[in-house]
Amino acid sequence: MTKRTIVLMALAEVPVDRGRQCKVEGLDLALFRIGDAAYAIADSCPHQGASLANGKLQGALVSCPAHGLKFDVRTGCSSVSAELRTGNYPVRVIDGQIVLDIEEPQPQGVKEC
Ligand code: FES
Repeated sequence: MTKRTIVLMALAEVPVDRGRQCKVEGLDLALFRIGDAAYAIADSCPHQGASLANGKLQGALVSCPAHGLKFDVRTGCSSVSAELRTGNYPVRVIDGQIVLDIEEPQPQGVKEC
């Protein structure tokens, strides 16, 4: 596997109490900000697909704007059921920019040392 880093947006562009939608590389992400850290989950509620980026953030929990289920933006897990979760993605903040690390498979015939 090789790792590629993609700059998503400035941390300052993400509201403190809400998410921010971000489409990149075919992914629909909901970005959140807690202090100086950023988190990314799939922008689709596992209940009926509402945008979680439009939900209200309290602590590390975002409330789905459609029916109110809460998800931990650090893990994508629901606060009520371990089986109800959305995807989460590895993001970091570097020099005020939120970056996403994507792992890509090696092309066939290329082996890691
Ligand atoms: S669509 Fe999110 S709780 Fe129903």
